[in-house]
Amino acid sequence: MAQLPQAAKNRLAQGEIQQQLAAGLLAAHAHTSPKYLYDVLGSRLFAAICELPEYYPTRTEAAIFALHAQQIAGAVGADAILIDLGAGNCSKAAGLFPSLRPKQYVAIDISVQFLEEAVSALQQQFPQIKMTCLGMDFSAELELPATLEMEGRQFFYPGSSIGNFAPLEALMFLRRIRKAIAGGSGSDSSGGLLIGVDLVKDKAILDAAYDDSLGVTAAFNLNLLHHLNRLLDADFDPRDWRHRAFYNSEQHRIEMHLEARDELTVHWQQGGMRHFARGETIHTESSYKYTRQGFIEMLQQTGFGKVQTWCDPHNWFMVCHAQAA
Ligand code: AVJ
Repeated sequence: MAQLPQAAKNRLAQGEIQQQLAAGLLAAHAHTSPKYLYDVLGSRLFAAICELPEYYPTRTEAAIFALHAQQIAGAVGADAILIDLGAGNCSKAAGLFPSLRPKQYVAIDISVQFLEEAVSALQQQFPQIKMTCLGMDFSAELELPATLEMEGRQFFYPGSSIGNFAPLEALMFLRRIRKAIAGGSGSDSSGGLLIGVDLVKDKAILDAAYDDSLGVTAAFNLNLLHHLNRLLDADFDPRDWRHRAFYNSEQHRIEMHLEARDELTVHWQQGGMRHFARGETIHTESSYKYTRQGFIEMLQQTGFGKVQTWCDPHNWFMVCHAQAA
């Protein structure tokens, strides 16, 4: 497995991280970026969420990939460089290797420690695919190493991770992916994007998916507090907080919050502190849902041409391949 140097731009200084976190905690309505949900334990808890009966996205997407593997492989094309954004445990890409047969696999994730374990295990299984590991916060900047070939760049963004962006941010993110495909030339018709998108549906199904009966999503959300304690030298006690998650139908998004069970004060480094009233929340994640047509329009507004889509029989989830125009 090759190690690529981290681009300097993509490395947030520890001080910047702390400043951003403190600013979010001090905002009128406290909030944190969902990327902080993924420390080592958070990544493992997320993998457990994907196994839950209520959390339909992962298995629905997997069923779509399995059922339409040949058509999807046809859309992606031969000799692809599969660039996996937020690779996590790499299991989704690994499942596609037998049908896609990429020539190279570039795994990108913010949680680089977790990623390295996964990629080195995968390299044993698929010795013929060149594998590369890249630790990068691609939500901030998407700059690929200059050594990476242009031809056949196929971005892979499964799991409806796009849902974490607000719609306007999602547009900008799609544009950034499009730019990373074309480079300077603009003539790379072999480039594209294979993306999984969660669709608007009945509120009860969405609510259950983000507030499961075993409390795994609650643990995933509350684990953020342990991570904040380490990042900020803060004194959050997870027992003081309750998991809240619900579908906001006006905004087409799941909102995940941590709600103070009682009045409390949290302290962190350099005298930082905030008082929370009982019932006050920290907004920890939004997960936007799209309609098929709405998402296709976004792809067409961001420089993609031919779009192919595959859905499950309930139209709960969509896999899209968009070719760079
Ligand atoms: C990784 C952003 C796609 O929004 O469904 C799952 C994260 N949060 N359960 C999602 C998540 C709570 C997940 N994404």
